[in-house]
Amino acid sequence: MINAANILVINGSYRDDGITDQTIEIMVQSIMESGARADVVYLRDYPIGFCLNCRECTQTSGVLPGKCVQQDGMEDLISRIEQASAYIIASPTNFGSVTAIFKRFMERLVVYAYWPWDNNFPEYRKDNSLRKKAVLVSSCAAPGFLGRWLYGTHKQLKMTARIIGADVVGTLFTGRIAKDSYTSLPESVQKKAKTLAIKLI
Ligand SMILES: Cc1cc2nc3c(=O)[nH]c(=O)nc-3n(C[C@H](O)[C@H](O)[C@H](O)COP(=O)(O)O)c2cc1C
Repeated sequence: MINAANILVINGSYRDDGITDQTIEIMVQSIMESGARADVVYLRDYPIGFCLNCRECTQTSGVLPGKCVQQDGMEDLISRIEQASAYIIASPTNFGSVTAIFKRFMERLVVYAYWPWDNNFPEYRKDNSLRKKAVLVSSCAAPGFLGRWLYGTHKQLKMTARIIGADVVGTLFTGRIAKDSYTSLPESVQKKAKTLAIKLI
């Protein structure tokens, strides 16, 4: 049974208290102040391996995710994804894309594809009915509008939302913020983070 306001946050940053962590913290605070729940997964501390490309998990049809042959933290994470009512999906931009730990997580989402051996392409298991909401969060050194357009990050975060069955209701893509080893988030970014968090409740 899905709790009406149970937000799962997936954080693909490597850095404690960096731009991504600070943004997430503000969003989580807003969610909790509104009486909803937030469950934060820090991929940097989370025990998941690389996808083996065996495609065993994709062979049986149905809307529920397939079963991975690996026994690691992904099984629990998939169950948290299924239980959540909405998502915050976050990763900084590293070399033009999401971080490596985010990409590793993304590839493990192949359990959300139905892809029998005789099909050339996978099909999404989650169709367009009963879709959940997602907010995407990213930052980069370049100006935000440019980073969002130029890099693969935004596309990859969107693809992640799509495969787990969520529609993107907002994006916070900041740039040119980290001008020191520690930077506090500007007021304008804090305000947008709060507004977007409330959209998920
Ligand atoms: C290894 C590495 C690669 C990066 N690559 C890019 C990049 O391709 N383009 C860009 O605009 N910023 C790049 N950045 C800057 C980060 O995206 C930016 O500092 C981000 O805010 C870091 O997020 P965090 O504070 O959550 O760690 C890179 C930073 C590092 C450490």
